[in-house]
Amino acid sequence: MKVAVYPGSFDPVTNGHIDILEKTIKIFDKIIVAVIHNVYKQPLFTPEERVELIKESTQHLKNIEVGCFSGLLVDYIKEKKACAIIRGLRTVTDFEYEMQMAMMNKELFPEVDTVFVMSNSKYIFVSSSAVKEAVLLGGDVSTLVPEAVRRGLERKLG
Ligand code: COA
Repeated sequence: MKVAVYPGSFDPVTNGHIDILEKTIKIFDKIIVAVIHNVYKQPLFTPEERVELIKESTQHLKNIEVGCFSGLLVDYIKEKKACAIIRGLRTVTDFEYEMQMAMMNKELFPEVDTVFVMSNSKYIFVSSSAVKEAVLLGGDVSTLVPEAVRRGLERKLG
């Protein structure tokens, strides 16, 4: 069984992330979306809230599991017996950071590979921070995030 982990802060999940999942679930038997606490970021949603929002937003997809993790990504990969890490690439600016991370993870756990997927061009400008800022300033983000996330953002920032 080919299992992949899609890690990220997902604070909150956006349509860009869902697009990556829709594409990669055709390649793997199961994808575990891993909500990871990024020590450099101050989150708006708690890890439990982020997990719940991802679950609500992926109901149309089969074989998606959602979990929470803090620590080293490769330890989680080993625990879950996954063979790959999924990452989305939006623009060339993502590449350098992603390449560094992929090489670091390969060094830490040589059996794992990172699979990069190009974002849909509709979402290359989307990030969780941009979405939060737009809502905070009264913008309509309904084309950029799942409905459950839009409601969650309204509750927190609207
Ligand atoms: N569509 C929309 N937005 C996207 C996206 C896509 N396809 N892909 C990335 N993004 C956005 C995210 O929303 C996020 O936006 P934000 O910065 O405004 O929050 C940004 O791009 C990048 O975030 P994310 O993909 O969540 O990665 P990250 O940098 O927060 O975290 C981890 C990367 C979690 C994978 C990494 O920190 C990690 O592995 N941590 C565990 C510790 C570890 O093992 N470290 C050693 C490995 S180097």
